[in-house]
Amino acid sequence: MLLGSGFFQEIEGKTVIDFGCGEGSEAIEMAQRGARRVIGIDIREDLLEIARRKAREVKVDDKCAFLVKTDERADIILSLDSFEHFADPAAVLRTMASLLQPSGKVVACFGPTWYHPLGGHLFSIFPWAHLLFSERALIAWRSNFKSDGATRFSEVAGGLNQMTIRRFEKLVATSPFRFTSLELVPIRKLRLLHNRLTREFTTAVVRCRLVRR
Ligand SMILES: C[S@@+](CC[C@H](N)C(=O)[O-])C[C@H]1O[C@@H](n2cnc3c(N)ncnc32)[C@H](O)[C@@H]1O
Repeated sequence: MLLGSGFFQEIEGKTVIDFGCGEGSEAIEMAQRGARRVIGIDIREDLLEIARRKAREVKVDDKCAFLVKTDERADIILSLDSFEHFADPAAVLRTMASLLQPSGKVVACFGPTWYHPLGGHLFSIFPWAHLLFSERALIAWRSNFKSDGATRFSEVAGGLNQMTIRRFEKLVATSPFRFTSLELVPIRKLRLLHNRLTREFTTAVVRCRLVRR
């Protein structure tokens, strides 16, 4: 997992929510590696069903639940590669605050953010293509091989919210949380160019930890 093996010591015996769990690989790994209980949350029922099946296959289904929402409180909320997908990330931060034990923390890791060369995800057919072409043109190109009727970036399966580092900082500043750490991991080849001015274009991954104010 992206967060390193020390993370498994942190979750030992804890209740963890994996917010934006997708097919549940990380949630299942946490259940296998010491979490007391893991709840995977996602808006896509098709992915949740895959996650449930995988948990049954490796016999951790008694420790895991995969749901579209929960009211169970967690010691740790993990969110991997999802903050650039949430349609309303401010609302997600409020939900996270309501689900966290008072002493709990959010561990989030996400990217690429919008100005990264591949920040358009599947719309980045070459570096920064998503910034050169209009949303309309890119959606028209996508409709050649996807027929889900999406007319905006935000409507593609799982969502894409054009998150920037600056916007994320502002969202946290107006949320119930404060940063205890914020690490901007540079794109390896651009690391010498990575600084406060270039960070939107040269950051590979945003890693942070949040606690309640
Ligand atoms: C790129 S995937 C990451 C999945 C998984 N965490 C991983 O790292 O493989 C982003 C996930 O966020 C989910 N998602 C988008 N908006 C969401 C929301 N409002 N609440 C919960 N999950 C959401 C998507 O359905 C998708 O499965």
